[in-house]
This record gives sequence, structure tokens and C-alpha cells, in this order.
Amino acid sequence: MKFVKLLSIAFLLFLAPSVKADEGMWLPQLLQRLNEARMKQLGMKISAEDIYSLSKSSLKDAIVSFGGFCTGEIISDKGLVLTNHHCGFDVIQNHTTLQNNYIRDGFWAMNNGQELPNKGLFVTFIVRIDDVTKQALNGVTALLTESERQSIIDRNLAEVRKNVQKEAKQDVLTRAFFEGNQYFLFVTETYRDIRLVGAPPGSIGNFGKDTDNWVWPRHTGDFSMFRIYADKNNQPAEYSPENIPYTPKRSLKISLDGISEKDFTMVFGFPGRTTQYLHSAAVEQIRTVNDPAKIAVRDKALQVIDGFMRKDESIKIQYAAKYAGIQNSYKKWQGEVLGLTGTDAYSKKINYEKTFQQRVDANPSFSAYKTLLADLAKEYKDFESYGLGRDYYTEIIGKIELFTIASQLNALATAYEKEREKGYTQRLKTTLAAIEGMIGEYSVTVDKKLFEALMPLYASGLPAQFISPVFKTKLQAASNDFAGLANGLYKDELSSEPALKALLAKPAAEAVAAIRSYEAVQLFVELQKNYQSTVQAPSQEIQNRIAKLQRSYTQAQMDVMTEKKFYPDANSTLRVTYGNVGGYNARDGVRFAYATNLDGVMEKYKPGDYEFDVPEKLRQLHAAKDYGVYGQNGKMPVCFIASNHTTGGNSGSPALDGYGNLIGLNFDRVWEGTMSDINYDASICRNIMVDIRYVLFIIDKFAGAGHLVKEMKLFKGKKGN
Ligand code: ARG
Ligand code: GLU
Repeated sequence: MKFVKLLSIAFLLFLAPSVKADEGMWLPQLLQRLNEARMKQLGMKISAEDIYSLSKSSLKDAIVSFGGFCTGEIISDKGLVLTNHHCGFDVIQNHTTLQNNYIRDGFWAMNNGQELPNKGLFVTFIVRIDDVTKQALNGVTALLTESERQSIIDRNLAEVRKNVQKEAKQDVLTRAFFEGNQYFLFVTETYRDIRLVGAPPGSIGNFGKDTDNWVWPRHTGDFSMFRIYADKNNQPAEYSPENIPYTPKRSLKISLDGISEKDFTMVFGFPGRTTQYLHSAAVEQIRTVNDPAKIAVRDKALQVIDGFMRKDESIKIQYAAKYAGIQNSYKKWQGEVLGLTGTDAYSKKINYEKTFQQRVDANPSFSAYKTLLADLAKEYKDFESYGLGRDYYTEIIGKIELFTIASQLNALATAYEKEREKGYTQRLKTTLAAIEGMIGEYSVTVDKKLFEALMPLYASGLPAQFISPVFKTKLQAASNDFAGLANGLYKDELSSEPALKALLAKPAAEAVAAIRSYEAVQLFVELQKNYQSTVQAPSQEIQNRIAKLQRSYTQAQMDVMTEKKFYPDANSTLRVTYGNVGGYNARDGVRFAYATNLDGVMEKYKPGDYEFDVPEKLRQLHAAKDYGVYGQNGKMPVCFIASNHTTGGNSGSPALDGYGNLIGLNFDRVWEGTMSDINYDASICRNIMVDIRYVLFIIDKFAGAGHLVKEMKLFKGKKGN
């Protein structure tokens, strides 16, 4: 008896998944309750309190939302921020000219005076997170319509925000979690004088470009550095030459110890959006309808832009960030489709739903959930064609900058038509800012070709009921000649910054009359109106029903599937994810190792190539094995992977070891696992990080910016305390 018991305990211990990955993006303030024990089991040596605390300095004080779209971390007591090269790319592009080509050659400030200011860029710290679910849902009942419900919640939350305890310099925001079943409030602090400190050349920071993007094994030094500036009292301030480097509450220590297989890692940052609790019908729609539509449009757009970028150096600079952005999601969706198909995510969902339904049917207390799955299936089916219409419209119209300009001008004219001079003046600032923001990255030649390439998709890819009849007539009148049509639309006044500014400098009535006379503006207004009346309006009710059902279904899953641990979908709020370093089986017969090194960069090196060139200095350092303290056993580590559950927005997030020390910088996921936003699969989902030692090596040995490394707290030998 005793023996049997011992044996079964041994068996259990053996089965205990000590290195199996954990799915989930967890709220830092709930780690203690939900995750701490498990994190320690996986190798964490610090406590949840060291990660997030209200009473003492904690790791969260070193993490920032970088510009609202990426993550950054503080790595020195002089406000130095580390993030990805692709997160700083737009900024790097803005400072780039044909003479000072920072995209191509990199940029290094050799002293504070050389650091470059960036209009509009900000970083945000999270001061505190409060659960405000009770207050938010006060007065909400199941009988309300979606819009009634929303307006009560909006009112409640406005009240909560008004009464929150915070300092004057702090802001407050509230967010829905679990599809509106829970609400949290965030007290934040935002700094707006953020200067570029350093970036490696594109051939390091974006090595392998689109071919290697989303792919392992990887060899990219995807990092750039910024510095936060504050006023002389260390408080947030707009840019001023008077500002001084910010002294942070906390900066990360950097470990030079390196990475071994199975090491505990965690990633702390701002994941953007995931959808883990969808109905099978929604997952299938993404795979077969939405992703393919978006891929088809982007395929055409990318061909056009790439063609210009390869032959014109100034267009290459002008469109660099835009192209990378379009390409990034384009490739990700392809990986997502492959991954959803390959892992048979649909069948997995169906099986999960079967269990759910059986449990609901067997338990009278779940009777309210009885028809949820069937109801959702019906609504998703009804929504399918509208979803396709939405994706085509937004992908096509959103890629043609002529329509972006038209949309801005239309908004201005509308403001005038509603409130005359007052409306016009109020709106003008926004319009000017929007046009200023896009015009430098706009080439009429490229855009015209985009129009010619994409509008045929509008005219033939869309279900007939969604195509504007006015556009069809126009097209027929132009004998289906898209180029001819474009020629009539791209008026000089809509194409250059001086002309647009001259237009907007006119008296309001005159400017509005001109705006209304442009065919491009008229066409945009028609396309938009047609979209609203054929796609948006008729599908609004379905979308409301889906929102309501999906909210119940999310709650129902938590009530019914009690063996599962639930984390809220990503929504650009601060999260912690954890896992272990490890390779994976990519496909039959192929297992990938968990780390790469500089030898691999040299294996990929193609002299003069668009994607795989390697700077001479780096080749020399490699040939001489001149890696300083950053190398390991004669090799220079470059990237590594682990089972942290990350998504877009986690770019730039720190990878931390079990002691909370910085060991890497998150920047991507592996190709086989890009479907993790919808269907995380621990066996193949891995996040990709650049090894911090490579980052330091590039700064110090390659760029000769060792003064920056001196600011940081490096150490060798565990803990570093
Ligand atoms: N795939 C990574 C992310 O989702 C990196 C993108 C930047 N690199 C690029 N070649 N576009 O954002
Ligand atoms: N590169 C992504 C980003 O920009 C992170 C990779 C991912 O999506 O996991 O946030």
C-alpha cells in the first residue's frame, strides 16, 4: 500500500511539468494571488512584491509604455531607455536624410548635447492599478441594451476618474477586461521629452529584414536607445533645452551571466491585443475570410512600394517605416493562417466547446449559458460578409494617402458646415497636424500607383452589395482605366505640402468651397458614405449582439471550465508573462536550438544585399573574435527564445531572469507560433529576444559608445545584489 502510494507520488512528481510553458499575460498586481507559486516552481527567485508593489520600489517602476505602441525599460539612473530598433524606427527615419542616413549607418550621441529630440514621442509609467469593477458596473443589469449599458459604465467610470487619488502631474485611465466583465484603473505618469541616443545601422538593427521577420533562427540586433528628460525638479515637461536627464525611481540591473536551456525568464510589458476566448466560428472566419482578405490587399500594396524603394534612395527612406509596418502584419497573418491550420485550432475549439456544452447541459445553475454557443455561431455567420466588407474597405482606403488627405479636408469642411468659422478654427489644428504628420512620408508617384493597384480590388474583390454604385459608374465612364481615373484625382493642391498649406491659409469659406470642389474629396465622401450605409449601419446590431454574447461567454468559460486558469486578453495594459528558455520542434525532423550567435550572422551574410549585408566593422570584430566581456566560450551570443506568451506591443519589453535582472530584449515570435494571439500552443509558441550581451557588444565594441555602457549597472555572477 505504502509502496503504491510512494510510487504514485513519484509518478506525479515526474509528470509535474517543471519546464512546460504557461500560457498567459498576467496583471502584475494579481501575480501574488494567481502566479507567484508557479513562477517560483519554474525558477523565479524574487517575489511578486518585487515585481509590483505600492509600498516600495519594484520592477514595474523601470517599465514604460513607449509611445503607446511598444515597451521600453529604464537601464540607467540617468533615464536611459532601451527599446527595439523597430520601435524607434519612425523616429530614426524622421532624423534621416540622404546626407545623414541614420537608417543605413546608425546614430550615436557621444554626449547629452547630441541626443535628438522627438516631437510627439512620450513614455508612460504605471504608478498604480486599482480594481474598479464594482463601481463601473453599478446599476448595470442584464436587461440593458449594449448602448444603455455602455453609457452607464461610461458615466460611472467618469465619476471614478474624477474622484481618484493622484498627484496633479499624473493621469488616470480605465480599461475593460474580460470583454467588459471587469474594469481596472491605471494611474500613470507621462514624460514627453524623449531623445534619441543611439541606434545601430539597419544591417544590424533590422538584419534579415522581411525575409527573417517572424522567423527563427534569428540574428537581428533589434534595439535602439532613448533618454527621458525632465524639468529641473525631475518632473514631466514638454521639450526644452533646459531639461535635464530624468532620475528614475528604478533602473534594471544587467546580467552578463548568459542564458542556459530551461532558465526561468519573464517578460514585462504592454501587449496590444489578443483574442483567446473566441467562438470556433470566429476563429475559422479569421483563418478563411479576414486574414486572407487583408493579406491580398497588402500583397498588392507591398509590391508597389517595394518596387519604388528598391530603385529610389529617397523613397526608400521616406517609405521605410510605413513599408515595415504594412509588411509586418502581412507576414504575421500568413503565419497565423498556417499556424491555425497546422495546429487544427478549429477542432481544438470545437472539442473545448463540446465539453463546455456538456457541463452546461448537466448543471441547472448554468441554464443561462445553454444557448450561448449556438447564438454566437449564428451571429458570427450573419456577420461574415460584413467583416469581409470592413476589412477590404479599411485595408484599401487606409493605404491610399490621397484618401487620408481627403478625409482630413472633409472633416474640416464638415466642421465649417456645422459651426462656420468657430468649427473651422477648432478643427484646423488637428487637420494641419495630421497632414504634417503624413506628408513627409507621402510620394504622389507611389500613391498614384497604389490607387491603381488597390482600387481594382475594391471594384472586384468586394461582395457586390458593398461596392459604391457611384464609383462603378465613374469607372465605367473612364472605360475601366484606373490610371486615367487616378490622373483626374491627384490634383496638385492635394499633393504637396506648400499647396495644402496655402489652401488651408485661405479664409474659411474660400477653403471649404475649394475642398468641396475636389473630385478626390467627393469620391472619398461617397466611398465612406457607401461603407457606412452598406456595412457599418446594417451590421451594428449584430456587432452589439456579438459583444454581449462574447461577454457572457467569457464569464461562462470562467464559471464552467474551472480547471483552466484565466487571464484577460491583451489590451495594451501592463502585463507579466513567464516561461523557460528552450528550443522547439518546428516540423517533422526539425528541432530548433534555443540560441544563435554571431557565426550565424556571418553564415547569412550576402555582400551588398538589401537584407543580409553585414557592416565591415562587425565582420572584423567577428574575425578577430574581439567580443570583450560580452562573449562566451569564443562565441558572441545574438538571440534566444523562450516560452513567454507575448504579442505585438511587447516589442522592446525586457526579458528578465529569475532575479529580475535584464538578460534580453523581446522583439518577435517564431513563425510556427504566430497564431498564439488566438490559439496559444506551448509546444511551438516561442518569443524571440536579442541577448543583452549582443546589445552591449554593439554599443561598446562596434559603435564605440562605451560611455553609455558605463551608465549601466552590469555584473557577472548570479543575483548582482
Ligand atoms: N515582427 C516583429 C513585430 O511584430 C518585428 C517587426 C519589425 N521588423 C520588420 N522587419 N518589419 O513587430
Ligand atoms: N514585434 C512585435 C511588436 O512590435 C512583437 C512581436 C510579437 O508580436 O510578439 O510588438
